[in-house]
Amino acid sequence: MQKQQLLYKGKAKSVYETDDSDFLILHFRDDTSAFDGKRVEQLARKGEVNNRFNAFIMQKLAEAGIETHFEKQLSNDEVLVKRLDMIPVECVVRNFAAGSLVRRLGLEEGQALTPPTFELFYKDDALGDPMVNESLAVSLGWANKEQLAQMQKLTYQVNDVLKALFDAGGLMLVDFKLEFGVFHDRIVLGDEFSPDGCRIWDKNTKKKLDKDRFRQSLGDVIEAYEEVASRIGVPSN
Ligand code: TMP
Ligand code: ASP
Repeated sequence: MQKQQLLYKGKAKSVYETDDSDFLILHFRDDTSAFDGKRVEQLARKGEVNNRFNAFIMQKLAEAGIETHFEKQLSNDEVLVKRLDMIPVECVVRNFAAGSLVRRLGLEEGQALTPPTFELFYKDDALGDPMVNESLAVSLGWANKEQLAQMQKLTYQVNDVLKALFDAGGLMLVDFKLEFGVFHDRIVLGDEFSPDGCRIWDKNTKKKLDKDRFRQSLGDVIEAYEEVASRIGVPSN
C-alpha cells in the first residue's frame, strides 16, 4: 500500500491516506501531550514503543474476537489501519478511582470500583473533553443508541481481556480510554491502546507506569512504558 498525503496531524499520531480508500497509515510520533494539548514534549523512542505496544494489544483483542482497525505493522513507527468514520466520543472504563474521577467526586485514589464504571467524554480539546452521556450523543447526532450500546459492550470486553493480560504481568489496569468508528456499517475499535491512554500501576508497589509519569513530572516515562511492554510480553523488535 502506498503512503499518500497527510490527512490529519493529531497530538501524538499523524494520519496519511493510502492508494486504497479503505485504509490509512498512522505514524506514531515522539510528541507527548497532556492537559488537552496544553503541554507537549518530545520523548525519545515513544513513537516506536507505542506503535509496538499498540500492535501487540490490538492483536490480542482480535484473537479475543473484538474487531479492530489494525491491519499490519509497517515499520517501527507506522501501522496500516482500516479507515473508520470516527465517532467523536471517548469511552472510559475504570477499575480503580484515579484522575478526573478523583477530582470530580473527591474519592481516594486507588479505591476499587465494583463493578467497573463506564463513562463517555466528548473529544474536543478546546472544551477540555467534557463528560457527556448517551442521550446527548444521540441528540447531537454523534452516534445512535445501538452503536453506543455496542461501544459500551466492546469496551467492557476489552477490559476483561486486558485486565487479565496486565494482571499476569503483575500490573493493575486502573482505567483506559477507547475510541471507535464505523467501517462498512460496523462499530470497530480505532485509535490506539498504549500507556498514553490508560493507567497502569505495579500491583505490589502501586508505582505508576503510564502517562501520569509525564502529567505529574515523575520522570522515566518511556522507561516505564518499556517495563510494562516487557512484563506483558510485547516483542522488543
Ligand atoms: P481521566 O481520569 O482524565 O478522565 O482519564 C481516564 C482515562 O482515560 C485515563 O487513562 C486517561 C484516558 N484519557 C485519555 O487518554 N485521553 C482523554 O482525552 C481522556 C478524557 C482520557
Ligand atoms: N487528553 C490527553 C491527556 O490528558 C492528551 C492531552 O491532553 O493532550 O493525556
